[in-house]
This record gives sequence, C-alpha cells and structure tokens, in this order.
Amino acid sequence: MSVEKSVLERYSKGAESVQSSLCCPVDYDSELMSILPQEVVDKDYGCGDPSRYVQKGDVVLDLGSGSGKICYIAAQLVGEEGAVIGVDMNDDMLSLARSYQSEMASRIGSDRVSFRKAHIQDLKLDLEVVDRYLTDHPVINSVDLSRFDTWKFEQRNKAPLVADSSVDLVVSNCVLNLVEESDKRILLEEIFRVVRPGGRVAISDIVSDAPVPQRLKADPALWSGCISGALQEESFVNAFTEVGFQGVSLAKWDAKPWQTVEGLEFRSVTVTAYKGKGTECIDRGHAVIYRGPFSQVNDDDGHYYPRGQRIAVCERTFEALLDRYPENFIGIRPHGEVEPKMWCASAGTRRPASETRGGEHRSRESSGGCC
Ligand SMILES: C[S@@+](CC[C@H](N)C(=O)[O-])C[C@H]1O[C@@H](n2cnc3c(N)ncnc32)[C@H](O)[C@@H]1O
Repeated sequence: MSVEKSVLERYSKGAESVQSSLCCPVDYDSELMSILPQEVVDKDYGCGDPSRYVQKGDVVLDLGSGSGKICYIAAQLVGEEGAVIGVDMNDDMLSLARSYQSEMASRIGSDRVSFRKAHIQDLKLDLEVVDRYLTDHPVINSVDLSRFDTWKFEQRNKAPLVADSSVDLVVSNCVLNLVEESDKRILLEEIFRVVRPGGRVAISDIVSDAPVPQRLKADPALWSGCISGALQEESFVNAFTEVGFQGVSLAKWDAKPWQTVEGLEFRSVTVTAYKGKGTECIDRGHAVIYRGPFSQVNDDDGHYYPRGQRIAVCERTFEALLDRYPENFIGIRPHGEVEPKMWCASAGTRRPASETRGGEHRSRESSGGCC
C-alpha cells in the first residue's frame, strides 16, 4: 500500500472515531482549549503545541490541520486583524474541522479560519479545484493525462492556493513525518516559499534518536502511526537550515520518548526558525559584541563571534542579531555617517573601537525571542 493511501485511511478513521494509538499527551493552554468543541479536543492527533508561537495579527498556516484544534487555538491569538489557514489532504478531516467553523466564529467573534484541501508538499495546488476538474474531465487515457498535467501546471502558476511570501507563521503539529521520504525536501522548500521574509515557523513533530531502518519505514501501520516516517533528530534540524531558514532552534525536546520501537526512541520536538529579510548585505560600520557565556558562537551564514570582541557586521546581520537575540549580543552603531560598502566582512573581522566609539548602543537584557 502506498504511504499516502495508508495515511488517508488512518486519518479517515481518526475523523470518524477517536484513535487512542495516535494520541500523544500534550499540555495545551487550558483557557484557549476551553472554548473548543469536545470532538475537536478528543480527535487530537498532535504531539506538541506550536500555537504558543502565534502572535497577534499573524497570518498563520497550519499544515495538516486535522480536526482544526491548532487553527481554532491560533484564531483566538491572532485577533481580528489576523487569519488562520488550515491545510489537509483528507476530506473527512476537512469536513470535521469545517463542521465547527461557524460555531467557532461566533465564539471567537469573527470567521478568521479557513480550511483548504492540498498536499502540504504542494501548496500551490488546490485539490478541491482538482476534484472539480476531474469530475468534468475524467482521465481515461494518456492524452487526458497529459492535458491534466498541463492544466495542473497552469493552475499552480495562475491561482496558487498559498502564494509566495504570504504567511507570517507556518505551524504544524505531528504531520511532516507522514510525508513520503522523497517529498520531504520539497515540503521544506514549500514552507520556505510561503513564509514572508522575516516570518517564522514553529513545527512540532516526532523525531527518532537514530536513523530509522528501511524495514520499519516499509511498514504502513508504523508510518501512518507517526513513527517510521520520523526524521532522525539531527536531520530534522538540518532540513530547515538546508532550505535557507535561520535561527533554527530545538525549542522543545521531550525527555520522555513517546514510543520506543526496536530500541529506537521516538519523541516529540518543536523546531522554531525564521526566514531572513533578504535585504542586501551593506556595510555601514556596525559592530556587535557577543556577551557569552560560550567562548564563541557561529551563525548559519558562516560568521563567528568570539565572546567580548567587537566584530564587524553588515547592517542586515546587525538588525537580525539584535532583533532576535538582544540578550546575547550588544550592538554598536557607527559614530556618524559611514560611506556604505557592498561588502560583507569576512568571518571574525574585528571592528576597531575607533570606528564605533561614541556610536549608539543597542543592548537589552530581556529576550525578544525569535518566535
Ligand atoms: C497526526 S494528524 C495531526 C492532526 C493535527 N495537526 C492535530 O494536531 O491533531 C495528521 C494530519 O495530517 C494530514 N496529512 C498527512 N499527510 C498530509 C499531506 N501530505 N498533506 C496534507 N495533509 C496531510 C492527515 O490527513 C491528518 O489530518
């Protein structure tokens, strides 16, 4: 049986009745949960709580939204100005989530949640539009198939379900592991595509402590049960840096494994990261000092910051470090006007004190945090 078929069947059953083998205990915010319909609460197949990274005004995209629990929690946090989009490929899960939409809209105060049908690894293609197309144009021979392929290509370009750079925060709760191995990289690239520059991701998922053997991966019940499709914990983190996310952090790592299978531990983690603003690297004479406690830290752009040294950085890096990690870095702006240079200091270049002496400092001890 294909991975997708086993996942579809498993979660159609999960929409119909509670599947206790898919439930992983999670400590959600009880106040936000208190207004959710009992069925949505009961059919919880998540393993973490990415909703705690939602901010007021965010446009949130929830990948693999299931019964809609994270969407309805997020809807309370984004407020009137924000919006929440849940994406799932399973019609039964979508019907379940949508069946509470108007009730939740009146409880929350407005209808700020929508549910869409798509593969999360192909967020441009609206599968409800595909279903309608196939009703009108059944594919029964190779000519139909090639016409369908052309139509899909045009649809993705003309009417993408989720547009480029349109989302402030992508969340997901226990879904990435379910996507076919060959599609996992494409999935990460899709997530990167839809997040706006400066936007964030908060992804809860199951990871393994060692690579999962092929034999376990081939077991459809283990795969659809959120076990054997799990990435090894290091590969999970690297998957985000490889597509261009910055500040990738293991925000949560459950000490207690959710399951142990043939000696391998499978546990829930939450990774947070952000997408850089993509502005040009222009040197305007800024410096940062890494406060410690480690002797040195390195970033994913290849820069390193020895503790206590005044290190030259471009304006983009200066803003990113001070916006995200004010408790770790002291920022020093140049004293007076400095001729801008299209130049990124090579890693570890010191900024002489004479160039920044008297410049405005940016220094804060409390955390602004990434997500
Ligand atoms: C483990 S459940 C998690 C549901 C929900 N996030 C929660 O916290 O309860 C996985 C959900 O992801 C959906 N799903 C799995 N693979 C998917 C894919 N490739 N594209 C879209 N949805 C997918 C399933 O239909 C199911 O609703």
